[in-house]
Parts: sequence; structure tokens; C-alpha cells
Amino acid sequence: MALRTFTVNGREAAIEEGRNLLDWLRREARLTSVKNGCAEGACGACMVLVDGRAMNACALSGAKVAGKRVLTVEGFPPEELAAYERAFAEAGAVQCGFCTPGMVISAKALLDKTPDPTPEEARKAIRRNICRCTGYAKIVDATLAAAKERAGDEEEGGEA
Ligand code: FES
Ligand code: FES
Repeated sequence: MALRTFTVNGREAAIEEGRNLLDWLRREARLTSVKNGCAEGACGACMVLVDGRAMNACALSGAKVAGKRVLTVEGFPPEELAAYERAFAEAGAVQCGFCTPGMVISAKALLDKTPDPTPEEARKAIRRNICRCTGYAKIVDATLAAAKERAGDEEEGGEA
């Protein structure tokens, strides 16, 4: 089967064009933050950023990501990842944690474009992510808190 090249967390990689991206990320790249919740594009547990857009990896093939940049939470800059971890932990937005990486991917897709979102925008950003545990309000709170942390980090960085 023909191979297609793309980048995963900044590294060049090759994937068979018919291979399922979720399967490849978990088995070949060992990026286990990407979860298999439903395998049919319905839960958001497998979300990754593809050229900055939050997309379900289970619904993508190698052919669909050819030439694109795929980012998982393992590829976030450490300070940015720490900001999400703090915000989600402090808001009580993590219970079993299964949905969390996908939620964080949706949050990042939002905050990269809209650094200071409204609660409604934060709610909308996670509409394709299912959480069985938290009831969503805490995840919205965490997304808004992450926005504040990111803004604070940028200010600090700007002053340095
Ligand atoms: S595992 Fe991909 S959307 Fe559920
Ligand atoms: S924290 Fe358990 S599914 Fe969301």
C-alpha cells in the first residue's frame, strides 16, 4: 500500500494511505493520549489537531492527512500543556480522564483562534466531545481558566 508523509508533533512520519489514523497513532507512534471511545466519529475521545483544526482521528485515513500537521497533547509545548493540566485539575474537570485529551484538543483549537472566549464559545468548542462523568460545566470552566493562564503566560513572556 502506498505511503503518505505527514508530520506528527513536528516529526516527519509515513503512513499507509488506507490506514486508520487513530490506529496508527496508538500502535505505531505510541501516542496513547489519543483514545478509542467509539471508533465511529461520535465521541471526540480520539481528537487531534490537523493543521490546527480539531478532528476525530478515527475518521481519518493516511490519505486524508497527507502533507498535513497532526498534533496530539504529547506534542504541546510543556508550559502550554502544564497550563491545561492545572486549569482542568483545579476546575475539577477530570474524573475518569478518558475524554480529557480530546477536550484539551478542542480547547486548544478554540483558544488558538479566540484567546479570550465567552462561556458560550467554550461550550460550543466541546460540542463534539462526550464526557460521561463531569456534566460539561466544569470543562467549560477549565477552558476559560486555561484561556486566562495562557494569556498570563504570554504577558509574562512578553515582559521578559
Ligand atoms: S473514537 Fe473517534 S470519535 Fe469516538
Ligand atoms: S472525565 Fe470521564 S468521560 Fe470525561
